[in-house]
Amino acid sequence: MNNINTEQPFVMVIFGASGDLTKRKLMPALYSLYKEGRLPKAFSILGIGRTVYTDSNYRSYILGEEKQYLKHEEQDEQVMGDFVSHLYYLSIDPAVESEYEQLRARLEELSGNEHPDNLLFYLATPPSLYGVIPQHLKKWRLNSKHARIIVEKPFGYDLASAQELNRIYSSVFEEHQIYRIDHFLGKETAQNLLAFRFANGIFEPLWNRNYVDYVEVTAVENLGIEQRGGFYDTTGALRDMVQNHLIQLVALTAMEPPAAFNADSFRNEVVKVYESLTPLDEIDLDEHIVRGQYMASNSKKGYREEKNIAADSRTETYIAMKLGISNWRWSGVPFYIRTGKQMPTKVTEIVIHFKETPHQMFHAVGDKGPTANKLILRLQPNEGMVLKFGMKLPGPGFEVKQVAMDFSYDQLGGVPSGDAYARLIEDCIQGDPTLFTRSDAVEASWRFFDPILRYWKEHTEAPLYGYPVGTWGPLESEAMMHEHGADWTNPCKNLTNTDQYCEL
Ligand code: BG6
Repeated sequence: MNNINTEQPFVMVIFGASGDLTKRKLMPALYSLYKEGRLPKAFSILGIGRTVYTDSNYRSYILGEEKQYLKHEEQDEQVMGDFVSHLYYLSIDPAVESEYEQLRARLEELSGNEHPDNLLFYLATPPSLYGVIPQHLKKWRLNSKHARIIVEKPFGYDLASAQELNRIYSSVFEEHQIYRIDHFLGKETAQNLLAFRFANGIFEPLWNRNYVDYVEVTAVENLGIEQRGGFYDTTGALRDMVQNHLIQLVALTAMEPPAAFNADSFRNEVVKVYESLTPLDEIDLDEHIVRGQYMASNSKKGYREEKNIAADSRTETYIAMKLGISNWRWSGVPFYIRTGKQMPTKVTEIVIHFKETPHQMFHAVGDKGPTANKLILRLQPNEGMVLKFGMKLPGPGFEVKQVAMDFSYDQLGGVPSGDAYARLIEDCIQGDPTLFTRSDAVEASWRFFDPILRYWKEHTEAPLYGYPVGTWGPLESEAMMHEHGADWTNPCKNLTNTDQYCEL
């Protein structure tokens, strides 16, 4: 933990303080850290935004909002009142350099020092400001030695813009001061995947091309784009979910054991996975990727009817992809990944499908054939894991049925309150970047996805399939799996209705 100035009061500056992320995720996380006594003793949080608030009406605004976003059992009026007394607000336009004079003055005041240094800047703004803010901070000498900066995803819009952002950030801060956040890595269950793989001896020998048939990674949601039309329509599922969250889960599943659990060793292994992704050339693209967009169904709006969405938008709200990893461990094992909005349920899980036994002597029960072993790692909800294997049905004969050994996280006391954001903000305050994305990883990931984005841009006729709200996505994604002789593992009834699908 090399990055803390404990001499000064700690000040966290949130750019985008009147926005959605702040009220939904950051404030609940900070409140839970405060409640558990995990924030520095002397601290202030300074919200920045263009909306006009005084300190006092910003506090009332946050108090009001948090009643909605904090779980009932977490709300303690006294503690909430104490917590918001640490909040301050400054109304400036973060795009305008001269206004940072006011920011500097406010930080000198809050840190009680002419040279504010124990600072954490959080960029919860639209991505268009990610490049501007650090440059203005530098002009006003707020990029001090111990300052840290957290930047939300997507970091960049494509490879070139990510490289440009990296160039800007490295001209303002040292790499150890830059925290590119991907909140999936803050999830307890994502971290547990590492413990599961590397703290147990019995799975690792099987974790390779000799024993694994294919892997599924699913992160789907039953919500639409909510109030984020403007952002989402220029972003799409690939940039919003796949280039960061999903590929991060692929890395955790596929990586080699790091030599030690520290920032460099861990992140080196992540980068190696990204660099081993088999590049997709144009011929593969339409075959290996299914893009979808949700359509109105059962009185629920379609994507094109949402606020701030173009009536002829071709932005994808669903992606299914078949990936390959070209290395000794995984060569030939497909990784099927998918994400989508307006699916039947919200679930994030990884399923490892092991190979069938070479010869099967027994009959399976039911219509589905015997039944390779399957390990399901459930990241949310019902955090836990399930191992499926065959057992003889009691009685005459030798019929084999798949049974499940089910471990739920609740048995370890459950996932702690305060979600991924609390964990990651605390790590950043303590100067631990392990669970944040390093500059080379972000570029390696874009290097893989860039040709896909370019292809879609250049080929406006590339397929985009509609799927009705509340279904498991385009039928073409089922077909992609069928080619492997398999079906997606859907945690509840498949709601497929062929008549409701079409090509857009
Ligand atoms: C965010 C995406 O990063 O992750 C959202 O921008 C998505 O579109 C969200 O809804 C999903 O995160 P979680 O933790 O709710 O699964």
